[in-house]
Amino acid sequence: MKDVIIACDFDSWEKTKAFLERFENEKPFLKIGMELFYAEGPRIVKEIKARGHKIFLDLKLHDIPNTVKKAMKVLSALEIDMCNVHAAGTAEMMKAAIEGLTRPDGTRPLLIAVTQLTSTDGQKLRAELLIEKSMPETVLHYAKNAASAGLDGVVCSPLEAKLIKQVCGQDFLTVTPGVRFAGGDVGDQKRVATPKWARENGSDYIVMGRPITEAADPAAAYRRAKEEFLYE
Ligand code: C5P
Repeated sequence: MKDVIIACDFDSWEKTKAFLERFENEKPFLKIGMELFYAEGPRIVKEIKARGHKIFLDLKLHDIPNTVKKAMKVLSALEIDMCNVHAAGTAEMMKAAIEGLTRPDGTRPLLIAVTQLTSTDGQKLRAELLIEKSMPETVLHYAKNAASAGLDGVVCSPLEAKLIKQVCGQDFLTVTPGVRFAGGDVGDQKRVATPKWARENGSDYIVMGRPITEAADPAAAYRRAKEEFLYE
């Protein structure tokens, strides 16, 4: 169940393909975000699925319930494995997303929620969004909304995963970006954790981008991430 997801933050299929060709035997779980999806469209999902990878389609839907439901129906037909919405869209929107994602045979991709973006801090929460509660309280409340709407989990910091599981249940999935190898380049991430720390503190899936995509040997960096996250 636990796995390492590689963030494919590329702007074209050519670059993505060149990256995937660095892997000989493994078929990593991949995250496709807005940049790649908007550049290449649904064909990118089909191409990558055809190569045998699992896909987390990170499009963070947020719209009126009916629009999200219909958009999710389209995404579900792409045979993705995981996708997401903003919990700020309300429980009604999240329930509509599940309805749209559920295929005629009853199966559906995993659906997780973004609580508050990590680029939003406590000051912006109060001054711009007019949310008086603290960031941890807000994140936990949105996670609870997602759980009661029937979602499978949330995207969160590894630093929040343990508490979210305590509140929403151990089966509620935590998908955590902001993961770096010990001593590695942090880049623009503010609060980071190592793969081992993330596992010990409740992450079900770690999302790693640049530490793998920009490594001299991406396949070796991916194996290291799996080793540290799953076994160390
Ligand atoms: O390269 P890096 O490991 O920082 O990539 C992390 C990935 O996770 C990026 O695709 C980034 O957009 C995404 N992400 C994040 N923080 C969030 C949500 C998503 O870093 N809160």
